[in-house]
Amino acid sequence: LLTAAIGLVLSAVGILIGLWIDWFPAQGSTQADDIDTLWDVLVICSVPIFVGVTAVVLFCAREFRQKPGEEHLDGPPIHGNTKLEVVWTAIPALMLVTLCGYAAVVLSNIEEAPASGQENRVAVTGEQFTWTFEYTGADGTKFSTNQLYVEQGKSVRFDVRSKDVIHDFWVPEWRMKIDAVPGITTNYRVTPTKTGIYPVVCAELCGLGHAFMRQSAHVLPPEKYAAWMQRMTERQTAGAAPAADGAGGQTASADGKAVFTQGVGATGATACGACHALADAGTSGATGPNLDEALAGQDAAAIKASIVDPNAKITDGFGEGIMPANYAETLTPAELDALVRYIADATKK
Ligand code: CUA
Repeated sequence: LLTAAIGLVLSAVGILIGLWIDWFPAQGSTQADDIDTLWDVLVICSVPIFVGVTAVVLFCAREFRQKPGEEHLDGPPIHGNTKLEVVWTAIPALMLVTLCGYAAVVLSNIEEAPASGQENRVAVTGEQFTWTFEYTGADGTKFSTNQLYVEQGKSVRFDVRSKDVIHDFWVPEWRMKIDAVPGITTNYRVTPTKTGIYPVVCAELCGLGHAFMRQSAHVLPPEKYAAWMQRMTERQTAGAAPAADGAGGQTASADGKAVFTQGVGATGATACGACHALADAGTSGATGPNLDEALAGQDAAAIKASIVDPNAKITDGFGEGIMPANYAETLTPAELDALVRYIADATKK
């Protein structure tokens, strides 16, 4: 009786701890509430079972242990109890089927497409050790970013791919999470409810840089999102047009030195100078090679190759993946060309 009482008290304490403590980050999507409620129900069902089974095991170990003088005794033969066995099979089976049904309903709710059929789409690509987000503007213009931008209150569908190993695309506040598997495209959708900046996390051990595979998700109100979309599309077409009509890719907007020292805020491309020292730019970053030494006398094509495929010249594996492999993708062609020209000039001196 005492054991049963202790078991009941522990169950109650367990459930309270499970439900009262705020284990999760704030809910940031319409999917989050369903998922958190499912968690609560599972806690309520599983804590008493765990505590109950443990209590019975401990009780039996104490009550029916072999006492001094019983070394040669054997217990009475037992022939089973059909009624009891039916009961302890039927109850868990019933619970399991019920929970499965409930979980299936939750799954179908959170995966459902919006009734209007209107939703944004973002192609997400994982690689060691960075995420790239690709958007298609209303006019079909494509552009990539290093930071995720989504619209508050509108469903967004992510098509998730991987270039190398298995990663996992996760924004904890949205609760949804899915593997990025090489060779196939996986997807999920969320409707973000809160504006702000949230972490994008890789949730699958994918190599030495796994822990650093973290970026940001920016949830913008609809008007700001539309303005951002417009700016990014214009930026892309403004950068690409001069190259297409043979003007040499030289545009007023692309300043190689500015990209080097400040990066590109719109896509989250970091400043080269944050990691690389270059005398002409006055930067002293020491994370990557000193470019006055590493690129001295190299021609524009070689410099461009080092930016487009930063890991190509690393032969000992040391430092691999530190410079984002998608760096060049977050620049417009004009910005990339301007950056290459600038570095070529600066390292020639
Ligand atoms: Cu990518 Cu862990």
